[in-house]
Amino acid sequence: MIKRLWGKPDKPSKQSAEPASTDNIPQHVAIIMDGNGRWAKNRGLPRVAGHHSGMKAVKRVTMAADRLGVKYLTLYAFSTENWKRPKAEVDYLMKLPQEFLEIELAELVQNNVQVRMMGYSQQLPSHTLQAVEEAVRQTAGNTGLVLNFALNYGSRMEMLEAVKQIADEVRNGQMSVEDIDENAMSSRLLTGGLPDPDLLIRTSGEIRLSNFMLWQLAYSEMWFTDVYWPEFTEEHFHEAIKEYQRRARRYGGL
Ligand code: FPP
Repeated sequence: MIKRLWGKPDKPSKQSAEPASTDNIPQHVAIIMDGNGRWAKNRGLPRVAGHHSGMKAVKRVTMAADRLGVKYLTLYAFSTENWKRPKAEVDYLMKLPQEFLEIELAELVQNNVQVRMMGYSQQLPSHTLQAVEEAVRQTAGNTGLVLNFALNYGSRMEMLEAVKQIADEVRNGQMSVEDIDENAMSSRLLTGGLPDPDLLIRTSGEIRLSNFMLWQLAYSEMWFTDVYWPEFTEEHFHEAIKEYQRRARRYGGL
């Protein structure tokens, strides 16, 4: 493995750059950005160096998605289970949204990107929450790509909260048991008005969902790659989109 220093720009990919067609672009792409730790370990770097490099991949993929005309990009940045990691790593991960937004917010604003957050804000350190809330506020009127950060997000908790809310509303007489349908559930999830993802991407060779959007991914196409997230390029993103464009979506029909 070639050793690279933390902070150096990534080398351009040598892959063939046949871009995806702009027809049949998935409206909503969700990504499980995995492999930061292994990427760093392979280079003899601390795990946090992988997360820092992963932050640069966030920028690349945001630009690629925007250029292609994807409307919603949801990125799994921190799960409700990630608190189990060593405190130093958690602290570092909690500083990344702030660092990313300090560098990129002006460009995101310029490019009409709307920043959103999906997750439980109560447990987040105030510096993390303030940075994200400021970005959400400054981009609220933007009409381009929606960049949705899943931060302290967990799908089972999200579904339990929605079920509790429905149970409460039934108990209070605000809704009847017969009103409980897919829309009632979807609208009470953290995704609120967002359409379900059309395409899920997971990097690093792991083939699992890790408590990510379990309800919303029911009919999504999935694309897995062995590439570690810090190495994920615009070309890889196009590769995923091209594969999506080859799939026939039947939603259980023929
Ligand atoms: C999983 O890789 C990755 C994470 C838990 C964190 C993802 C965060 C980023 C990519 C940076 C986010 C940037 C912004 C702007 C919010 P891992 O650490 O589990 O990797 P491993 O499986 O190889 O150990």
